[in-house]
Amino acid sequence: MNYNKKTVKDVDVKGKKVLLRCDFNVPQDKVTGEITSDKRIKAALPTIQYLLDNGAAVIACSHLGKPKGVDPKFTLAPVAVRLGELLGKDVIMAKDVAGDDAKAKAAALQPGQIMLLENTRFEKGETKNDPELAKAMASMADLFVSDAFGSVHRAHASTAGVADYLPAVSGFLIQKELQFLGGAISNPKRPLVAILGGSKVSSKIGVINNLLEIADTIIIGGGMSYTFSAARGGKVGDSLLEKDWLDYSNDMMKKAADKGVKFLLPVDTVAADKYAPDANSQVVRDGEIPDGWMGLDIGPETIKLYCDAVAGAGTVIWNGPMGVFEFPAFAKGTEAVADALSKTSAITVIGGGDSAAAVEQLGYADKMTHISTGGGASLEFLEGKELPGVACLLDA
Ligand code: 3PG
Repeated sequence: MNYNKKTVKDVDVKGKKVLLRCDFNVPQDKVTGEITSDKRIKAALPTIQYLLDNGAAVIACSHLGKPKGVDPKFTLAPVAVRLGELLGKDVIMAKDVAGDDAKAKAAALQPGQIMLLENTRFEKGETKNDPELAKAMASMADLFVSDAFGSVHRAHASTAGVADYLPAVSGFLIQKELQFLGGAISNPKRPLVAILGGSKVSSKIGVINNLLEIADTIIIGGGMSYTFSAARGGKVGDSLLEKDWLDYSNDMMKKAADKGVKFLLPVDTVAADKYAPDANSQVVRDGEIPDGWMGLDIGPETIKLYCDAVAGAGTVIWNGPMGVFEFPAFAKGTEAVADALSKTSAITVIGGGDSAAAVEQLGYADKMTHISTGGGASLEFLEGKELPGVACLLDA
């Protein structure tokens, strides 16, 4: 897949109406509806500001949540308010996505002004990538700019379909994601070390498979390491175990050996007597977890092994925590890896979702080269899949 795409800087935006797809799928308080993190709104500001400063009129759009048709609970109106505060200017809110109100407001929009369309998923055609909806959205603008990295794995009308009707380029956020995630995969500074954690082997199959083709070293931690341990005949007690994936785990270890990829697995583990922050714990050898106990973190010897592997890396890709980092007593493995990443001279790329949350919660966010803003999108990226929201952009 070509990650070298035209950006807003490669086209003339002056006097143009720009349909800008953002990922304003922000978390909200379930009761008050208040936005609990405006990180994604802030992430869109550089592109918005660039467009406004360079004489474009911006028609921003996004989905929010998973509404089934029009549902006031999922209105983007609170996002328009927060975006207006951050930009220091009015954000005109449309009442629909591509209906009469949106079209009238888009027609009247002047250079330097910004409007926000209603939640794209209020239209049934959005997730079906309906050409009629894509055409109607595109008819309001002269240019499509996509900056919604978190949604590039969706082939929806507003993420990909509109590009059939308008010239399409990336904003700065997608450009940065392609540069770092794309760079780590297509042209990494070696050795490339991939650290994979999280609870399930089954959700990381695609990533492990793809990285076995690319990485020099793969490090396994988190809940999924117990399936690998059981596959090698170890005792895992009450740890997370995916019995259906034992054979697969063996195949992966064999494939790594055949390819000469170093495949590092825990040598010790911190076992707990219950899944709770105040559980009793003990360090045991890998594969020797007593009945009634469960592994919740990598052990001290494993930490040393993994940190040494990271120290000599040229590039590190990290996806998935090493243990239950939400419980401070079982966050040491994840924290040690984050600390090792913060000290290496390697390019450090953190996948979105849990790993990004861990790095932020543990205070290491500003020490990483790049933290992806996409959860599902960064996972599919690491799987080597073609992402419809990237493929539809003009090649540079
Ligand atoms: C996300 O939050 O990962 C993106 O906004 C995509 O959301 P979706 O899974 O509802 O498509």
